[in-house]
Amino acid sequence: MPTDRILEVSELWAGYGATPILQGVSMSVSRGEIVGVIGRNGVGKSTLMRCLIGLLETWRGTITFLDQDVTQLQADARARAGFGYIPQGRDVFPQMSVEENLQVGELIGGPEGKKLPELVYEYFPRLKERRRQVAGTMSGGEQQQLAIGRALIGNPTLMILDEPSEGIQPSIVQHICDALKSFRAELGTTIVFVEQNLDTILEIAERCYIMEKGKITRSLIGGDVNADNVRAQLLL
Ligand SMILES: Nc1ncnc2c1ncn2[C@@H]1O[C@H](COP(=O)(O)OP(=O)(O)O)[C@@H](O)[C@H]1O
Ligand SMILES: [Mg+2]
Repeated sequence: MPTDRILEVSELWAGYGATPILQGVSMSVSRGEIVGVIGRNGVGKSTLMRCLIGLLETWRGTITFLDQDVTQLQADARARAGFGYIPQGRDVFPQMSVEENLQVGELIGGPEGKKLPELVYEYFPRLKERRRQVAGTMSGGEQQQLAIGRALIGNPTLMILDEPSEGIQPSIVQHICDALKSFRAELGTTIVFVEQNLDTILEIAERCYIMEKGKITRSLIGGDVNADNVRAQLLL
């Protein structure tokens, strides 16, 4: 079990306008872990992910990444520091080809500016077959693979995925789960993901944080990450 901590979130507050959504979130992630954040709709999971990667300003609290306080850094600086982000709903460039989308990932770059398009095609051979296809015409599952591939090109130390299985057929979800586990095993990528899909959570999460109304209220570890406990947290 890895012990070195790469992400430490302490008493985070953030929101929209004057409305607080995150109300003192604390969590931590060690190198090489795959950690889920689960909870019902609207509790602030996506808001937390946006805050972690710097798309939403932190009101109070701190985010420490690789022993650096990144709380005040802009999103692009956090990407250079080693954050990768796959937003909810994927958000690929629909008018651009697969190849062009991946080139955008290269431009954004990552630590040491590593460029890994061939590696992306190894994990997602479907993308290679479709590399000249316009992204907006592909299936949801293919677009999700592309969004993940685009983030992978920056060789992130920490990959953050917001509901990667949403609206995707089960066979592709399984392929994505396998790919995420391979990133960890082969590239040393640490992964934090938000999910509502029970099977995906049970398939990849070693640990889960449970979020309720803007706070992390519990965590599940080891054998406690089971169907009964997870289902209880997802009920609407
Ligand atoms: N851009 C936004 N502007 C204002 N309120 C928002 C915005 N995005 C989300 N919210 C509100 O913040 C709360 C948490 O949303 P979100 O983080 O998307 O929850 P989750 O991802 O857990 O479903 C919800 O009440 C939602 O309506
Ligand atoms: Mg969400």
